[in-house]
Amino acid sequence: MNRQPLTVAVVGATGVVGRTMIQILNEREFPVGELRLLASGRSAGRTVSIDGRTLEIGEAVPEAFVGVDIALFSAGADASRELAPAAVAAGATVIDNSSAWRMDDAIPLVVSQVNPHDLEGHPGIVANPNCSTMQLAPVLMALRDAVGLERVVVDTYQSVSGTGADALAELEGQVRAHVAGEEPVASVYPHPIAFNALPEIDVFLDNGYTKEEWKVVSESRKILGMPDLRVSCTAVRIPVFVSHSEAVHVETRDPVDPDRARELFAAVPGVIVQDEPGEHRYPLAIDAAGHDEIYVGRVRRDISIGDDLGLAFWVVSDNLRKGAATNAVELAEILHERDWIRPASMRGAVPYRAPGAGRSLDAAEATA
Ligand SMILES: NC(=O)c1ccc[n+]([C@@H]2O[C@H](COP(=O)([O-])OP(=O)(O)OC[C@H]3O[C@@H](n4cnc5c(N)ncnc54)[C@H](OP(=O)(O)O)[C@@H]3O)[C@@H](O)[C@H]2O)c1
Repeated sequence: MNRQPLTVAVVGATGVVGRTMIQILNEREFPVGELRLLASGRSAGRTVSIDGRTLEIGEAVPEAFVGVDIALFSAGADASRELAPAAVAAGATVIDNSSAWRMDDAIPLVVSQVNPHDLEGHPGIVANPNCSTMQLAPVLMALRDAVGLERVVVDTYQSVSGTGADALAELEGQVRAHVAGEEPVASVYPHPIAFNALPEIDVFLDNGYTKEEWKVVSESRKILGMPDLRVSCTAVRIPVFVSHSEAVHVETRDPVDPDRARELFAAVPGVIVQDEPGEHRYPLAIDAAGHDEIYVGRVRRDISIGDDLGLAFWVVSDNLRKGAATNAVELAEILHERDWIRPASMRGAVPYRAPGAGRSLDAAEATA
């Protein structure tokens, strides 16, 4: 890897994803010359301790990006919409974790193992997918490339860390209240999350899906370069601290049996097959937490589809790591390695254009 040190900003540095980003930059020995930690005005002046060094949090304002090479954003969509263009104008390239830019036809939406080539034409902003889509895309890629994809149905079981620091505290508080025989207090979610399952993540759209479910539909199509792929999703929040789990049902174009599917999954970098049901071995949220890999198991024929054209399986990954921070740092590594940090227009590269761009497929279907 190009070891030239870079000035890196982390925006949202006090949040659960931002803190994981700082940890992963360190773990992967990303060549950071200067690290600027930024958050809202509420946190400015606070300090954080990293590897024995004390760093002060600055306020994320446009001037804070002067001299920054790469800015890793995880501060929510409003902050990204407002600050990412200012960061680009100041000369930084933004890798954004929010939903603000993901479905913009000019912005590449990239999973490191799936479509790193899409980074080449970036205009200064690169989008990191939603955590549920992130762990699904490399697994679907394996089937797309070998046997073709016709239809995908995904049901998610998502941890509370996907909502952020307040939700972690809420689950903990409700568990403690239960043990103490007290009433649970719900403020982050509309209902108690402890000992419950909530089929509502993000806001409801006119078509009856939630925005989270719609992200899985539209982001998967964009990342896989399959704008017409038939995808459906039900997203459920469950009382797990870290790692999202997904039950996936796929209809393929060509026949595939479970053994071949396991081989295809295991060949994808960063994907581990754990599939010995007789030994009670299958992917678990608590095992995946703290790891960067995507775990796949319970691979079997979907008996509702004939001719070996249907598969069912279970996919688990740490939503804070591969689902957010690890992928963002991997994208930064690719940009640095390939000398693609500057926007395409400054390198004479062809600008990125999303597959099926201009059809407004996303908005039209979402409100259908
Ligand atoms: N959690 C996940 O699994 C996950 C996965 C993928 C993507 N994401 C995305 O990552 C982002 C952050 O998520 P999180 O889970 O880390 O949330 P979080 O724990 O609630 O942290 C939010 C962070 O954003 C900062 N922030 C809020 N408003 C800001 C503003 N106007 N200007 C600058 N900084 C601001 C906060 O700073 P203060 O401390 O100063 O308020 C805090 O550092 C969201 O866009 C989320 O959708 C999260």
